[in-house]
Amino acid sequence: MGSALPLGDPAPLDGLLPPSAAERTHGHPFGVYLHVPFCRVRCGYCDFNTYTSSELRGVKQVDYAGQAVIEVGLAADVLERSGVPHRPVSTVFFGGGTPTLLPSSQLIQMLRAVDDAWGIAPGAEVTTEANPDSVDAQYLADLAAAGFTRVSFGMQSAVPHVLQTLDRTHDPERVPEVVRFARDAGLQVSVDLIYGTPGESLGDWERSLDSALAMEPDHLSAYALIVEQGTKLARQIRSGVYPEPDDDLEADMYELADARLSAARYEWYEVSNWARAASGPRAGGAAASGADALTGPATPTSEFRSRHNLAYWQGHDWWGIGPGAHSHIGGTRWWNVKHPAAYADRVLAGHSPAAGRETPDNESREIERVLLLARIRQGLPVATLAPDARQQVASLIADGLINGRAAIAGSIELTLRGRLLADAVVRRLT
Ligand SMILES: C[S@@+](CC[C@H](N)C(=O)[O-])C[C@H]1O[C@@H](n2cnc3c(N)ncnc32)[C@H](O)[C@@H]1O
Ligand code: SF4
Repeated sequence: MGSALPLGDPAPLDGLLPPSAAERTHGHPFGVYLHVPFCRVRCGYCDFNTYTSSELRGVKQVDYAGQAVIEVGLAADVLERSGVPHRPVSTVFFGGGTPTLLPSSQLIQMLRAVDDAWGIAPGAEVTTEANPDSVDAQYLADLAAAGFTRVSFGMQSAVPHVLQTLDRTHDPERVPEVVRFARDAGLQVSVDLIYGTPGESLGDWERSLDSALAMEPDHLSAYALIVEQGTKLARQIRSGVYPEPDDDLEADMYELADARLSAARYEWYEVSNWARAASGPRAGGAAASGADALTGPATPTSEFRSRHNLAYWQGHDWWGIGPGAHSHIGGTRWWNVKHPAAYADRVLAGHSPAAGRETPDNESREIERVLLLARIRQGLPVATLAPDARQQVASLIADGLINGRAAIAGSIELTLRGRLLADAVVRRLT
């Protein structure tokens, strides 16, 4: 299910990494992603690597945590045999699929395996994604007691007809309840919203933003709906059931989100991500898990940014556990076989589940670095740009796409217009 894997080179069955991986890891924090590839139903827009029970070809969900634990052990062994210096884990992220379809005891079993393998660093960020209808107060309290620090709820919208178009199964009234349960358990809370759903008006979007803000989450992601090829939504649009997304309306929706969120004292730190400022809603409330080790000195919002996602964007090191999961260690990337049945066969036979891998050359790495860092607020130092790209800075300021003061102070910071045209800015910088 979901989009195809990249091609790359074959990966060795013992998973051993090339010598360059060990040489290039110095100073970078280490994160672990655990993929849970199950959903109760597939949302029409989604092409993540996830499977409903009828698509599992005999694989049992109940066996999955044990298989993931085997890969954690293999990962620790591979890193050691490849000469990669040992690092405790700074961030752990359970994503999916729907991690919270598994009993809390199984997520905790996987987290313990990560701790046994590498040790979880003091102040680490430990997040799970959750569908609002898949958790209750006890579930979230169990996770918090076991060391989880953060939960990210897939809210998507507060408007019933929008949720219906997206095939979401949860009752929107459930979201404030589960947010309260999470907060009572001492977890930081993030919510995901999607804008640009067919039939969604600017007023509908405003209602979703207002509902999200009324819950005072610590963090909010707002994604423009992507119509992924091969999904039910793409077929519905092709056959005229729904209209094509309207770029102008989506731009208005982004601008509205930015205005509403800044007024509520949330600060954008990546084009689709906002974190509440220390002086924002619930100032003086529950403390977060410590200073940001990934991006230098802490800023007022840094404690609520997703440190795990920042590590992806900054090209740091992480091991992705599970079917279809991607990993990156010291410049080498690889990806696991996609189907849970193929994954189970590999790990139960004691083999690496990697399907392919690549070590991109300097030019591809530079393009990717600019592409990811330009989208982070002040994430891209001007001094690190190639001479041709540096020559673009003055015209990007003149075109109102990047902030002049930030550029003079040494970093690229997209303006609101620049965020709306981020792809065009990146093209001029690469
Ligand atoms: C793996 S899903 C989240 C976990 C959970 N299964 C859920 O849906 O609530 C991660 C997030 O990606 C976003 N997403 C998934 N497919 C998308 C698409 N086609 N366009 C825009 N955002 C998408 C959604 O906001 C979703 O919450
Ligand atoms: S619940 Fe989340 S992962 Fe599952 S199909 Fe829906 S969006 Fe995709």
